[in-house]
Amino acid sequence: MDPNPEILNLQETALSCFYSGEIFAFEDSLRALEVIQKKGVPEMIIMDHRNLTEDDSLFYRHLDVEKLATPLIVCSENAQEDKFMNFYPLVTAMIEKPLSVSSFTYLVKSISTLQTRQPTHVPIKIPTLLRLGMGHFDLYLKLSDKNFVKIIHKGEPFFDSDANKLFSKGIRELFIKYEDSKEFLKFLEKEMNVESGNTVEGISLAIENVEAIEQIAKFMNWSPSVLVSAQKSVSQAVKILSKNNNIISVLKRRLANPTSAYSRHVGLLTYMVCAFGSSIGWIGESGQVKLAMAALLHDVAVDEAIYENLREWDKRASHSGDKSPDTIRYRMHPFEASKLVKTLDAFSPDVDQIILQHHEVKDGSGFPRALDSVRIGHLPALFIIVEDLVDFIDDGENIETSITDFITWGREYYDSGHFKKIFTAFEEKLKG
Ligand SMILES: [Fe+2]
Ligand SMILES: [Fe+2]
Repeated sequence: MDPNPEILNLQETALSCFYSGEIFAFEDSLRALEVIQKKGVPEMIIMDHRNLTEDDSLFYRHLDVEKLATPLIVCSENAQEDKFMNFYPLVTAMIEKPLSVSSFTYLVKSISTLQTRQPTHVPIKIPTLLRLGMGHFDLYLKLSDKNFVKIIHKGEPFFDSDANKLFSKGIRELFIKYEDSKEFLKFLEKEMNVESGNTVEGISLAIENVEAIEQIAKFMNWSPSVLVSAQKSVSQAVKILSKNNNIISVLKRRLANPTSAYSRHVGLLTYMVCAFGSSIGWIGESGQVKLAMAALLHDVAVDEAIYENLREWDKRASHSGDKSPDTIRYRMHPFEASKLVKTLDAFSPDVDQIILQHHEVKDGSGFPRALDSVRIGHLPALFIIVEDLVDFIDDGENIETSITDFITWGREYYDSGHFKKIFTAFEEKLKG
């Protein structure tokens, strides 16, 4: 439910790219209530906060009466989350508007229990096609579930008259190929973000590796609440950082290409530090937000070219005899990133410490300061462990064996200081 038909449209399209169940979209909650009464309890409800509050929360009270165990996701542009959730305790998670398709998709996937599917074609409402003045994609007409025919080729215009002809035959939507859906969603997303003057746009993390996180989460037995909490911390971190003009311009530049090795590493690591933190507990939401901020910034001073061969550079930097200018520059990248953190209004020494220590190693063989495990803080230790895990996943062939290898290795390796404590807690959670 969303009173804005364009946002509704974006959500519906994003859902139909992976969701295998039936999707109903409404601008007002009363119509939605009717359908729930007729069709029964839905698997999940996604609504704008106005749908929840404007009709005297009839909808909510109804849900309360029925005591539905249905996850309820609320989208809002001014998420005063704590207040809101206190008032509406049935709300499972909140998501920030303007909507980032990747965050939205990630959140819904992490809560849904249905199998995801990959459709061959994705439906697009005809008014949306008109509004976007198409020509960007091939458009298909659906003949049956398996049979689609191309009626408009990429580059060809799509006019009102075409739309009217389709309407007169009762056709309300055309289809694009699944492969085009990512780009199409980006179109819609951009259009809305421009309207609302969204500052976060551009650094909303393109989670190209949602699938990887899903597989990891499954293997780790992470519950939906772990993933929801991770998602929340990541948005919070992005929000805090995007208030700083200096930082936002650096992040936009560094994350401009979502498929680069750099962006994928930063994206995966940012979610992983939060989810890992959330699953073992005891660092709280503020700890997760700090870890996410550090993950977003830890390597801003490392060039893309170095990312191609990171392990080699790590070796060079740890070898204190290597005094070549490139090696020194790489050795000092934690300091460079740390300078940026100090320009934050609410400067957090914890974030600074994580960034400064992210290449330290328990036996003092790391850089830039060769600290040993006694002097490496607990948040930095957690960060280092998760980055080790991410390295195993990057280097391995499949996720499950990589994690198994990581666990076998870590059990021996993390034998001191915070490392040992954190790894033990992680293993205990894993056993359930
Ligand atoms: Fe890294
Ligand atoms: Fe680094």
